[in-house]
Amino acid sequence: MTETLTIPRPDDWHLHLRDGAMLRAVLPESARHFGRAIVMPNLVPPVVTGAEAAAYRERIMAALPDGSGFRPLMTLYLTEETDPRDVEMAARTGLVQAVKLYPAGATTNSQSGVRDFDKVTGVLETMAQIGLPLCVHGEVTDPAVDIFDREAAFIDRVLDPLRRRIPGLKVVMEHITTKVGVDYVAAGGAAIGGTITVHHLVLNRNHLLAGGIRPHYYCLPVVKREEHRLALRKAATSGDPSFFLGTDSAPHTDPAKLQPCGCAGCFTATNALAVLAHVFDEDGALDRLAGFASEHGPAFYGLPVAEETITLEKIPAACPPAIETGDGPVTVFDPGFAPAWRVRP
Ligand code: NCD
Ligand code: ZN
Repeated sequence: MTETLTIPRPDDWHLHLRDGAMLRAVLPESARHFGRAIVMPNLVPPVVTGAEAAAYRERIMAALPDGSGFRPLMTLYLTEETDPRDVEMAARTGLVQAVKLYPAGATTNSQSGVRDFDKVTGVLETMAQIGLPLCVHGEVTDPAVDIFDREAAFIDRVLDPLRRRIPGLKVVMEHITTKVGVDYVAAGGAAIGGTITVHHLVLNRNHLLAGGIRPHYYCLPVVKREEHRLALRKAATSGDPSFFLGTDSAPHTDPAKLQPCGCAGCFTATNALAVLAHVFDEDGALDRLAGFASEHGPAFYGLPVAEETITLEKIPAACPPAIETGDGPVTVFDPGFAPAWRVRP
């Protein structure tokens, strides 16, 4: 008999859907398995205002396959000019579920992000009052800080001081990649959560760099040493409700990735759940998969757990072909092994 596991339909608490032809090509990959997703606002130009988020939401809904029940949860891109009243209005009407903080220059399309964190104090205070979470890209941009240390430096220099200044603010440390990040989130109580990607659960920096450079494994924050990957595995499979799935599935076309200065991002939407089930099975934690993928995220965001379910089955997942977009092919994440599980079609 095939081993199966039925869990509430998972959500993706950190997803890049892009726009236009790319949106139309990648959205079905997420909508097939996930019920909801926190949609990142780092478009060009970014999604800054409530009106822009409403228009982007319309474009996403229009690109959904017929009959899909997928729901995009919108975010606003925080800038030094963001108007607290606009944020408050967008939150009160239920349009946006979070605001995203990109330190300027930290990652893809973050140029309009925040340089002087004092300039956003007013917005953050409003968010604390109304209970709207701040999602943070937790890396400093100081060129003097080694790229492998930028997450730890961000906690010390930016995040911890900011949370002490505005203690009521709910924060999600997005895509944590280090033991330092894990420990900080675990110790932070109910006001802080941490998302973990599938690729950071399977890759360390050797996978990226040893025996040849593998551009499809290049993402931000960059994958770290093995000890950090193991800390992430432990956190994800621990049952601690502070940790939940955010795939950070970030499509770039192959020509954009495979060049002398290639883009950061792993496209994992297609096989994220197959790889995740494999990881949890390997660690003897299948009974905790529902918590990580389907329950802890809604609890943090104050949303109901999905009533629908999906079933995972222990049948090897097929290796997904590249996605064709109007702009060029997007390679699907290759975990380096054949996942033993798949989502029942
Ligand atoms: C993301 C993207 O391409 O938008 N890239 C990535 O490597 N994760 C941006 C981000 O989340 O940092
Ligand atoms: Zn991201």
